[in-house]
Amino acid sequence: MKAIVIREFGSPEVLKLEEVDLPSTGTSQVLVKVGAVGVNPVDTYLRSGVYPKLPPLPYTPGKDSAGVVEAVGSDVRDVKPGDRVYTSGSLTGTYAEYTLCEERDVAPLPDNVTFEQGAGIWTPYATAFRAMFQKAKAGPGESVLIHGASGGVGLAAIQWAKNAGLNAIGTASSAEGKQLILDNGTDAAFDHSEEGHLDAILEHTGGKGVDVIIEMLANVNLERDFKALAMFGRIVIVGSRGSLEFSPRLTMGKDASIFGMSLFNYSESDRLEIRDAVFSGLSDGSLNPIVNRSFPLSEAPAAHVAVIETKAAGKIVLVP
Ligand SMILES: NC(=O)c1ccc[n+]([C@@H]2O[C@H](COP(=O)([O-])OP(=O)(O)OC[C@H]3O[C@@H](n4cnc5c(N)ncnc54)[C@H](OP(=O)(O)O)[C@@H]3O)[C@@H](O)[C@H]2O)c1
Repeated sequence: MKAIVIREFGSPEVLKLEEVDLPSTGTSQVLVKVGAVGVNPVDTYLRSGVYPKLPPLPYTPGKDSAGVVEAVGSDVRDVKPGDRVYTSGSLTGTYAEYTLCEERDVAPLPDNVTFEQGAGIWTPYATAFRAMFQKAKAGPGESVLIHGASGGVGLAAIQWAKNAGLNAIGTASSAEGKQLILDNGTDAAFDHSEEGHLDAILEHTGGKGVDVIIEMLANVNLERDFKALAMFGRIVIVGSRGSLEFSPRLTMGKDASIFGMSLFNYSESDRLEIRDAVFSGLSDGSLNPIVNRSFPLSEAPAAHVAVIETKAAGKIVLVP
């Protein structure tokens, strides 16, 4: 089969398309014929070698994908060849024509969801759900600012917020991104590249501030987020690409909480809660993964440039 193989950490050009052996399926495992692959920012951090925990070389990147089950091991009970599935983890990487997964990392993909949409499910929707509900414990009637709402995690967060009866405010830095987040259900859209946008958000809430902030770029925003945060507010750090100077006193005046979160730290019960919520939301159409651009697998280097360097408007996916 064809797969992207990384033999050294570095620039996007280290993503090489190679011919590799089709993996054989162990007793507890599922082989999936990949229809589409989700490209996540973390794939680029790993590829460049800057992530704290790196895979041994060579490796094929990717955990998110969607496709059809090709083969299952003798102990696999919940899926069978021919089933449409999405993946939340992979033993061999998803940037490939086939991917080998443990059964727990394969979940049913409702018929109304395309493979390209399915490739954008796990990391974005699970991250947004965990941040908003399992960390910040946002509840109906509360307000949430999704600070960076036009990308994969942000759009998922808007859809979850809307389903849960929250008032969602989002930010994006392009006209297309702002329109997209309004179309997905935010009550208002602001531009995070404008200096005074947090003052404008505070004004929008009538001076009260928002109860929860889901923060996609904490190294830029964490300190000034407090301008738009309500008393007893919670900030969840989902993304950060550097450091900042921060005054801890800001947390005191508002009795505020700051949560860090990594998707990988969920408990088994959290994981199952997310899986069930994803399946019901996809089946009833209340969750609707938005695909921005699709690249052929051979153009993985261009997809890695796009996910970091271009304005977001949904997910970037690869098609083998
Ligand atoms: N903690 C975890 O477990 C976890 C899991 C998944 C992702 N993440 C991280 O979360 C972040 C978002 O992931 P993603 O998949 O949604 O990426 P993405 O699709 O590339 O979207 C990036 C988002 O960040 C926004 N952004 C850019 N500059 C910003 C700023 N100054 N302030 C606020 N937002 C800004 C972008 O808006 P514009 O393009 O419109 O400017 C876009 O909405 C990434 O850093 C990723 O590494 C963390």
